[in-house]
Amino acid sequence: MSLDAVQANISLHHLEVKSREPQRLAEFYSNVMDMKITRLNNQKFLCEGPGRKIIMSIGKNKTFGYAGMVCKNEENLERYREFLRITKCEVNDFVSEFYQSGSFAIRDPDNNMICFGVLKKENDFFTQGIHAPLQHLTFASKDVEKFQNFYQRKLGFQVTDRVVKNTGELATCFTTSNHEHHTIACFKSSQNGMDHHSYEAGEWNNIKIWCDHFSKNNVKLMWGPGRHGPGNNLFVFIEDIDGNWIEISAELETVVGRPPQNWPQEERTLNLWGKAIMRS
Ligand SMILES: [Fe+2]
Repeated sequence: MSLDAVQANISLHHLEVKSREPQRLAEFYSNVMDMKITRLNNQKFLCEGPGRKIIMSIGKNKTFGYAGMVCKNEENLERYREFLRITKCEVNDFVSEFYQSGSFAIRDPDNNMICFGVLKKENDFFTQGIHAPLQHLTFASKDVEKFQNFYQRKLGFQVTDRVVKNTGELATCFTTSNHEHHTIACFKSSQNGMDHHSYEAGEWNNIKIWCDHFSKNNVKLMWGPGRHGPGNNLFVFIEDIDGNWIEISAELETVVGRPPQNWPQEERTLNLWGKAIMRS
């Protein structure tokens, strides 16, 4: 029997981010995001901390390689693949150093690659560093309606909340593949790409520890501290040296079966405490 993404309990495990200078970007993440660097080859680096892995590879700055999603076991992965067969989602085999055999990839309507697999045992042990596992990814897109239709109907993600303009057009759509408020979301923008990626520090005190760590590295907060309306999470944002936005989050809402809520597109929705960065 098939399982949709939430039933299969899928979470975000790693990301590949492109850069003209992947080594320099990897050094930034090593220092600022408290990760260890491994050189995979001359143009590819792996940064890892507890629950977080980012691959930096050569390419255009601020472009996205792929998102690596994981299922807890092979049975769930196979039953999720069956779901994708029923929705007629095109699936291609995908091989990675992190996944056991049987992993696969899809392309969303903006051509973003999302990969699904089960981890090899040795890829889940890294413990050194400040707590904040990689938790969600958000895209920027010219067409959030298309994003919603694809992730909900083809990939079986659950829509948890939407931000709607007063014209009725979607400004943001939050979707999840497990009990967390969102694992992949999308913001309306004039161009397609990544909006930000986020690490879940769990509690307020860990955000303080991260902010002191950023300060030691002479990195200023670009937004926050604040609290988002959708997801109700506490947040701070910084920018990496390529201009990618990084979020440290805490207290993200747990969602089990509640219907999606529509939020008005206004400053208070994006930040219940103060100023917002309005995307469109
Ligand atoms: Fe976020």
